[in-house]
Amino acid sequence: MNVLVTGGAGYIGSHTCVELLNAGHRVLVIDNLCRSNPEALNRVRKITGKELLFRRIDLLDYDPLLAALREFSPDAVVHFAALKAVGESVRMPLTYYENNLAGTLNLCRAMSAVNCKNLVFSSSCTVYGNPARVPVTEASPTQNAECPYGRTKLFVEEILRDAAAADAAWHIALLRYFNPVGAHPSGLLGEDPRGTPNNLLPYIALVAAGKLPELSVFGNDYPTPDGTCIRDYLHVVDLAKGHLAALDGLPRFAGARAWNFGTGAGVSVLEVIAAFASVSGKKIPYKIAPRRAGDVVATYADPTRAREELNWSAELPLAQMCADAWRWQTQNPDGY
Ligand code: NAD
Ligand code: WQD
Repeated sequence: MNVLVTGGAGYIGSHTCVELLNAGHRVLVIDNLCRSNPEALNRVRKITGKELLFRRIDLLDYDPLLAALREFSPDAVVHFAALKAVGESVRMPLTYYENNLAGTLNLCRAMSAVNCKNLVFSSSCTVYGNPARVPVTEASPTQNAECPYGRTKLFVEEILRDAAAADAAWHIALLRYFNPVGAHPSGLLGEDPRGTPNNLLPYIALVAAGKLPELSVFGNDYPTPDGTCIRDYLHVVDLAKGHLAALDGLPRFAGARAWNFGTGAGVSVLEVIAAFASVSGKKIPYKIAPRRAGDVVATYADPTRAREELNWSAELPLAQMCADAWRWQTQNPDGY
């Protein structure tokens, strides 16, 4: 198939391009590079040995976007392009709503114009807010997400449900990722946050590399076995492969349908620290710091629906996530 990947120069998108190309698909990446480096695309080409088409286009620029879709004639679209920093979204909500919502509306309008109505959307477990019960199923309440970023995901999901309800030609997968971590085993692709990372794994990797002095553990007084928050970390390669399963599944499902993409296993912050120290052989100095505003105590997926309906399950263990993240860090100490 011809698959358009928006945001394909980013962390998850670049890993997904590898799997799409290796599966024999023809891929066009559209990305404005506001949060990524085109070198990631060269690494995808190097890993796969395949042609990867790229257009530097902002989804907010409708005319060049439509022209690119007319030229490429996609059979399906995987839509990663978004701003995704929680704290930044609190400081710049209008920027987030414009980029993430208007960008998606432009994309859907251009898709309709070229009669392509097969869409895989990057949603997030953030739509569940602070879940009252875990594991989280797709039927769990999508309460008020904790931040403007999370609300952009919630609103886009509702927009896509309405689009599908009005036109049965749309087949839309709403993929609610939990916590993607790790890197491609080649060490050529990985998470390349600009500045000091907000997320746990890339921060730990910098501490292990001696580039940051210590990790602040945001609270150890939560009602969990070791007092630290629990998350569902999944390997980014497992997640990338899940997008192929979602593309294959699209024709089998009418309308817009949500799937949780997680391992189903809850892991604490201290457990991640121990796993990373074990695979890297490095000490991870840390201190207990105050809780971080907006953190949920525990969230992890019930991945049953994806297993039964898409024949997809996350397979790679936490140790592999940490080992691959560490290889990326050591082979790319300054990112791309
Ligand atoms: P990322 O920032 O690495 O990639 C996003 C890409 O989109 C970047 O390359 C950026 O340049 C591009 N982009 C942003 N706005 C654009 C626009 N207007 N036009 C064109 N390109 C644009 O992020 P990621 O971690 O790869 O996440 C990909 C998707 O998955 C996002 O939608 C994110 O919200 C979602 N998601 C990520 C996580 C996570 O923990 N990484 C978890 C759940 C959901
Ligand atoms: C994980 C745990 C922190 C850093 C975020 C977004 C979410 C999604 C995934 C886009 C938490 C603790 C972290 C640190 C710490 N992104 N931590 N010290 O918050 O679960 O999810 O990324 O969709 O929307 O919110 O991930 O990696 O930031 O935190 O103690 O320096 O690690 O408190 O318990 P989070 P995270």
